[in-house]
Amino acid sequence: MKLENTYREKAEYLKNLKRFVGVQSVGWKSPSNIALVKYWGKREVQLPQNPSMSFALRNSFSETLVNYSFNENLDIKVELLFENKRNEAFENRIKSYFEGIIDFIPFIKNLAFKIESSNSFPHSAGIASSASAMSALALCLVSIEREMFGTLYEEKTFFEKASFLSRLGSGSAARSVYENYSVWGQSAFVSESSDELAIAYNNNIHSEFLGLGDAILITSSKSKKVSSSMGHNLMIDHPYADSRYKQANENLEKLLKAIASNDEQTFVDVIENEALSLHALMMSSSNGYSLLNQNTWEIIQKIKKFRKENNTFAAFTLDAGPNVHLIYKLKDRNKIVEFIELVLTEHCENNKWIDDKMGHGPEKIV
Ligand code: DP6
Repeated sequence: MKLENTYREKAEYLKNLKRFVGVQSVGWKSPSNIALVKYWGKREVQLPQNPSMSFALRNSFSETLVNYSFNENLDIKVELLFENKRNEAFENRIKSYFEGIIDFIPFIKNLAFKIESSNSFPHSAGIASSASAMSALALCLVSIEREMFGTLYEEKTFFEKASFLSRLGSGSAARSVYENYSVWGQSAFVSESSDELAIAYNNNIHSEFLGLGDAILITSSKSKKVSSSMGHNLMIDHPYADSRYKQANENLEKLLKAIASNDEQTFVDVIENEALSLHALMMSSSNGYSLLNQNTWEIIQKIKKFRKENNTFAAFTLDAGPNVHLIYKLKDRNKIVEFIELVLTEHCENNKWIDDKMGHGPEKIV
């Protein structure tokens, strides 16, 4: 049976919330993540066309506080403060998100929500804020379920439902509820992997691949001219769609082996191939476009040169934007920071880069 149906059946039990008085609160801090094998293309309700793999970041996160009281009217009631200001655009997005998940978490219509959310990073820094924000919110919802109904007692079931609900908010958010690496999307190489939720990937990782740094080099903080949702849509009739999905599966297999065996060369080859393939798909879609700029290319060339000349592990990846993520091993941190400061920051907007690394996953704050 599809997981979706299991959650729907179990939700029968969640339909009758007992009336309570006063306001209760729950809060989660949840990280953004950086994909090494990319999710690009979806089907049906937010199901991925190929498996993806990412790691959780540490310093780039959202903090979400959900205050809730009993709502007699049985409708969806949400007020949202983003960075202390009422934000109607986000409020509407959350309302339609709540409508979409009501079958799995029906008691949300018995509640009136006042949500306060903020990010640790600037809004347009090119960091996937939907991943951190939607996962923080989903974690709050499953915490309310646990608190009010005594369900989801085991950690595994708790985080799986959080990942399932996060995915329905934003695909990449499914991967943000775990520490270190996670995999979303069915793959023959990852047992228990699923299209409907992400799972933690903890086995078979060489210790040097558990301490990765991610220096995010900001070449532009302007908002994107084509959103990720539009980009995903353009994959529907994309001439390279089938070969892309095959490539992603193969890249995941190679990456898993590289991480297990400390094979730096394969890791570099795979993640750089994924980054450039993602942007090549944008360029080769109908009405093709590019989100990259001159500085993106300068940084990429300089990372390649640095790696060759210094024989040091340093690889780039890109999200759906022009900012470059430089992935390195923390044992090489001093050398890398010196390289960034001396060579790369001249290509960054206001010399700006964000010093991040692999993180411990979400944290309950209230
Ligand atoms: C390039 O998760 O932002 O970052 O599901 O429409 O919310 P929606 O898209 P989103 O897409 C992320 C795409 C990506 C690659 C990745 O994170 O795997």
